[in-house]
Amino acid sequence: MIKTIIWKNNTAVLIDQNALPIAEKYIACKSYKEVISAIKNLTVRGAPAIGVAAAMGAALGALRLPSLPPEEFRQKYFAICDEIAKARPTARNLFWALERMKKCFDRTKHSSQRDLVKELVNEARRICSEDIEINRQMGKYGSPLLADGDSILTHCNAGALATAGYGTALGVIRAAKEQGKKLHVYVDETRPVLQGARLTAWELKKEKISFTLITDNMAGFLMRQGKVDKIIVGADRIAANGDTANKIGTYSLAVLACAHRIPFYVAAPQSTIDVSLKTGATIPIEERKNEEVTHFKGVRNAPAGTKVYNPAFDVTPAQFITAIITEKGILTKPYRTSIAFTHKGEKLS
Ligand code: MRU
Repeated sequence: MIKTIIWKNNTAVLIDQNALPIAEKYIACKSYKEVISAIKNLTVRGAPAIGVAAAMGAALGALRLPSLPPEEFRQKYFAICDEIAKARPTARNLFWALERMKKCFDRTKHSSQRDLVKELVNEARRICSEDIEINRQMGKYGSPLLADGDSILTHCNAGALATAGYGTALGVIRAAKEQGKKLHVYVDETRPVLQGARLTAWELKKEKISFTLITDNMAGFLMRQGKVDKIIVGADRIAANGDTANKIGTYSLAVLACAHRIPFYVAAPQSTIDVSLKTGATIPIEERKNEEVTHFKGVRNAPAGTKVYNPAFDVTPAQFITAIITEKGILTKPYRTSIAFTHKGEKLS
């Protein structure tokens, strides 16, 4: 099994996703600052994996603090969590995991600092192992949507590398394959960072799942040719009405899928759903540096001084989404109602 992120000897060990597919290298983060850098520079990426890394970062922060009076310890720990929260703005899982790490602190605050830190480490490890279980559940619910012989298009990487293991969108494909279904996957290369070409293709090759790599601008032509039966993608944040932020290019795929009457599925854990946002209009969209567009591996491919716009994500309106696959089951329209049902006890915006 691909090990994206593990806790070992009081360090967070991450597979270096910038080195893939050329090299399989691991990076051991000993401090929360190293975890922040790893999230920022995409060593670890994908919403659920970012959440797990953030939780481990919080645990590392607590672990490295000196012995302090309880209130000062809490203050410093919460400040560390808030600093980690600034690493990237879009993936809901980052904030969800840190909220959980803060709640764990407050639940355990009457223990000694030593026991409290131990519990924070355990909580981070639980967030990690639960993520794999959640993905397997999503696979169980989502796999019946895929038929034997289907060709499926996916975008970015929503696989084991984007999670603690198994994957969300790729997890559904994995589960269908485990049931003996023969599937073919079309992999969008996913400009500008190439998560599809570098990471999804690497995972599928490793898993011996048949795939074809295409550039993003070929997807419409494939759909027109009848080569795509279904589309399945992951998500970074889902608003209370089902609007979904995912890797830039997802929106275009969803509109094309609608025009060609191709089912368009989103697979995401409940922790990606942000019920505090009424619609996708207020999802913060990260803009990344110009060089991701003007350069490839340090080589310039646009004239110096070229103006660039580089949003890392877009928002797909809920109307274009056939269903949302979660660990609690398949959500269908109207999403406000199905999300309210699976988020009982939480106030929907
Ligand atoms: O910029 P990235 O690589 O972190 O973006 C990742 C995506 O957009 C994924 O599709 C999303 O996080 C879902 S991962 C299960």
